[in-house]
Amino acid sequence: MTEFRLPRRLLTEAPGWAEHADVVVVGSGIAGLTIALEARKAGRVLLVTKTGLPAGSTAWAQGGIAAALGPEDSPEQHLHDTLMAGGGLCDEDAVRTLVTEGPQRVRELAALGTEFERADDGTIALTREGGHRRDRIAHAGGDATGKEISRALIEALRAVEEDPGIDVIEHALVTDVLTDAHGRACGVSLHVIGEGRIDGVGAALGRAVVLATGGFGQVYASTTNPPVSTGDGVALALRAGAQIVDLEFVQFHPTVLWLGRTAKGQQPLISEAVRGEGAHLRDVEGRRFMADRHELAELAPRDVVAKGVVTAMAETAAEHVWLDARHLGAEFLAERFPTIVARCRSYGIDPATDLVPVAPAQHYASGGVRTDLRGRTTVPGLYACGEVSWTGVHGANRLASNSLLEGLVWGHRIAIDLAETLADVP
Ligand code: SIN
Repeated sequence: MTEFRLPRRLLTEAPGWAEHADVVVVGSGIAGLTIALEARKAGRVLLVTKTGLPAGSTAWAQGGIAAALGPEDSPEQHLHDTLMAGGGLCDEDAVRTLVTEGPQRVRELAALGTEFERADDGTIALTREGGHRRDRIAHAGGDATGKEISRALIEALRAVEEDPGIDVIEHALVTDVLTDAHGRACGVSLHVIGEGRIDGVGAALGRAVVLATGGFGQVYASTTNPPVSTGDGVALALRAGAQIVDLEFVQFHPTVLWLGRTAKGQQPLISEAVRGEGAHLRDVEGRRFMADRHELAELAPRDVVAKGVVTAMAETAAEHVWLDARHLGAEFLAERFPTIVARCRSYGIDPATDLVPVAPAQHYASGGVRTDLRGRTTVPGLYACGEVSWTGVHGANRLASNSLLEGLVWGHRIAIDLAETLADVP
């Protein structure tokens, strides 16, 4: 495991105003929203987010959220698949926590109002993605799972907005984690583009700080991450003296719509679920190349498929391969993958009749700010959750659709830890 430490050496402008709360949560994806909703039972929560509430990666997640919900499935099998995908570098206790608590957390998310797709018998419908040997991916809105989860969580947050226990500041760029004389996190400095008193550089002070700031895909030329994923959380944690681990384990998604070599920034994702429903990968000469490379063929773990794609591109001197979903039929594709079909069509490609050009692009940071099973970092009072964190769950390569689950499970655990410990913090 690679560990990094960086001494604090940057100073931010002195704050012109201060807001007080018990818990300061930075970020508004599944992790930040879950913690805000649950931690308000333990104390007053201030959630700050860089732009608007739904701007982060969560709302862009297509495929879904993995949990052993099916009658043929079990947490033990989900554990096995996660460990296999992680290349021997997962923390087994962390994975066991994820897969054991995951099903209940997903049911709670549904009870909160997330409208997952349902099977004929009313149970949550499940599909398959790369590296999973069972159908265990819950999905919503066809291929708009993250958007629906984000909607439900934000709606739940808005419903309690009048609650004096929770406040939100949008358009707030956090510039530093503040620590007290004992080295304990006691708030953040932030630059807000706001109105009235809360505008410009200020401080959000609390007895605990949670970083839920997402990933750093925008560091790469080509990524599936939205513009806000600029790695702020890792930088903040480094400057506060927290341990950062496994930053080298950056996951590339194998099937991102290829829009030419000059395309930069966020690129359109073509979910693994399309392969989960039966689409094939072909090189530019029309050959299916994954069957020779792994027993699960197109549904091998993501790193295997990404390497297979890059090798096929090199062997054919091409800049992309093809995703072939034509045999799935126009009606099925439009119903199951409305977002992807619309996006492809906006570029003049119809997945029902055309081969779709795809190539790998940066997708996910499997490493991050080191935490324990309670979400605590190595800096007292500082927690991290979601993509910014390293919980040990993902190892060298995250299993598809385990990321939303990790944000949910650890978000819940952090809220419990806060409820149990905040009263003892002066
Ligand atoms: C996808 O839909 O292919 C992405 C799912 C994930 O990143 O887990």
